[in-house]
Amino acid sequence: MREGRVLVPDAILFLVSQPYLSGRRFKQLQAGLAEATRVASRVVRMEGTGQSAMDALDALAADGARDILVQPVGLPFSDSLLAWLPGALGVWQRESAIAGLSLSLATDQIGDAEVLRTIAESALARADAAQPVDAEEGTIDGKGWDEVPPYTDHLLVCTGPRCVYRRAGLLRDVLNDELSRQGVMRSTLVATTGCLFPCNNGPMVAHYPAGRWYRLATQEAVSTFVRTVLVERRPLPQFVIHEVNSNDHR
Ligand code: FES
Repeated sequence: MREGRVLVPDAILFLVSQPYLSGRRFKQLQAGLAEATRVASRVVRMEGTGQSAMDALDALAADGARDILVQPVGLPFSDSLLAWLPGALGVWQRESAIAGLSLSLATDQIGDAEVLRTIAESALARADAAQPVDAEEGTIDGKGWDEVPPYTDHLLVCTGPRCVYRRAGLLRDVLNDELSRQGVMRSTLVATTGCLFPCNNGPMVAHYPAGRWYRLATQEAVSTFVRTVLVERRPLPQFVIHEVNSNDHR
């Protein structure tokens, strides 16, 4: 906050950084934060699937919010994401060009002793409900984790924070629908990954064994990729940003 400025947000965007989060647990967090927040709010993930921060900001602004606080959720939140977010949020603000709209990025709560005390005291207060661990039952193996699934195509779909900011979370869901609709779901092994590094080219999908990396930025691009590359077995050079093996044109 700038010196002398009193910030009175009329909306909060919660940005949750937690790569391993099920849909059920995320909904629980969304509902809890919505219940606890006195102003309009949206809760989106920095990694994984779902609505992007930009779309959530669009929605808040469309509902009339003009002083939006962006609150990172994750303890502690990544330093590199905190350093990158002001620029990324600035792009949204510039492109949306909404007169009178102000956007502010809060810090995480790692320096807030009250929050840390609440976590520690809650752990002690709920100890009775904790599940006892049985040494006899100990195992790190799980049911069905022995077999490599049958597949012909392997997709590494980046759901890292910078691709998700560019709507990769939504496109990941579109990809699933297209694989199913175009009949190649069973032959395609899809792994969602963290950052693959060329973030500026995202949303990013790497296809093996062909060894081509694609930028698939729209729903139409995802659909075209599935049809052309996975069904018709032809390359799609207009979306390729990197090629590992140019001899294999599957
Ligand atoms: S976040 Fe996707 S390539 Fe970095």
